[in-house]
Amino acid sequence: MFGMANDDSTNALEILKRDHDAVDKLFAEYEDVKDGADDSEKENLVGQICDALTVHAQIEETIFYPAARRALQEEESKDLLDEAAVEHQTLKDIIGRLEAAPAGDPLYDAGVKVLSEYVKHHVREEENELFPKVRSSDMDLQAIGQQLAERKEQLERRGSQARGSNSRGEKPSRAAGYSRASRNAH
Ligand SMILES: [Fe+2]
Ligand SMILES: [Fe+2]
Repeated sequence: MFGMANDDSTNALEILKRDHDAVDKLFAEYEDVKDGADDSEKENLVGQICDALTVHAQIEETIFYPAARRALQEEESKDLLDEAAVEHQTLKDIIGRLEAAPAGDPLYDAGVKVLSEYVKHHVREEENELFPKVRSSDMDLQAIGQQLAERKEQLERRGSQARGSNSRGEKPSRAAGYSRASRNAH
């Protein structure tokens, strides 16, 4: 397109890195406003964080990780990708609990904090360990980037359609949140 074959905007690693940075910004925003914000503002921000992480995890799991498995042969890379897959499962557990909790839950802020720390840890491993290996492999970063961008757009469209058909801000009936878990912990 316009002769810019190496345009960063369609490089797989740049696309994933931009996602990481965007979520990091949202976590920082939550940290800034959490003490003054009302519950609906907090839930709105957390909703954006969870949606962004869910789409990001899906494009990695369906496109990027399989492509990395094909491009990276050695045992160490396989271990890294296995760990990343397990970390995604943990992330989804934390996200599910947070999405089910009302912002009035006494453990809500702690839940967001734990999610942000876990995401930071996971992102650090991807950017510092996995990405350099991928960069020096023969993965076609532009072609994979193109697939990531298309899938991402598709999932985001589907997500906003799903939200549009629900009554806004309503919690699912399984909204156990954290309180019940913390009461039962004693
Ligand atoms: Fe990931
Ligand atoms: Fe990632």
